[in-house]
Amino acid sequence: MHKITIAIDGFSGTGKSSTAKKVAGELGYTYIDSGAMYRATTLYFLEQDVSLDDASQVEHALDTLDIRFEEGHVLLNGQDVSNEIRTMRVNEHVSAVSTIAVVRHAMVAQQQKIGKGKGIVMDGRDIGTVVFPDAELKVFMTANTRIRAERRQSELAEKGIIEELNVIENNLSQRDEIDSTRSESPLRKAEDAVEIDTSNLTFADQVHKIVSLAKEKIHAS
Ligand code: DC
Repeated sequence: MHKITIAIDGFSGTGKSSTAKKVAGELGYTYIDSGAMYRATTLYFLEQDVSLDDASQVEHALDTLDIRFEEGHVLLNGQDVSNEIRTMRVNEHVSAVSTIAVVRHAMVAQQQKIGKGKGIVMDGRDIGTVVFPDAELKVFMTANTRIRAERRQSELAEKGIIEELNVIENNLSQRDEIDSTRSESPLRKAEDAVEIDTSNLTFADQVHKIVSLAKEKIHAS
């Protein structure tokens, strides 16, 4: 069967990652969480005390950074950082790190390499616009901010992290603002993307919708 590339973009907390992961599972495709790469980079910059205004420090850090995905875990220079990259500390810095052009170029190059063989579902902010502009299926997910904050809160709670709803909501709004107004590949819907508002959809509905769209594209290609 012909394999396609599926790009899922959208605002923080719209359920992109969990949806993309499930869609990949149903199609037997590989799931890549591009946000996890920006998060791991941010964690590394924090650990190394990299000053974001200092180009040589940023470039040196990027040169000594290795991010891999192994069985659903994110490895940063060989160490499993899957949980650490979801903390508020990383949430607070990740959008700033994601505005840096050299960071984006390094991430995009690695993402394109991972996706070369097709049969992948990648979620993020610029997947349909920059990373895979030729993706056969592009989805743009939205949802209202309060609902997104509530979802993020329960996600964090499952990991044992308790955070106030207002703090999460403010962080989401701030990240939306930075992500969509940055000059380097801002978050925007690709012209040929299908928009799905998940505010009133169940998880199963949104997965079903995307899997159906994917099957149409697979049969048509
Ligand atoms: O999807 P997420 O919330 O884990 O992403 C974390 C941050 O990474 C998000 O605020 C913006 C950035 N990001 C990006 O700029 N480009 C991507 N393709 C994925 C994430």
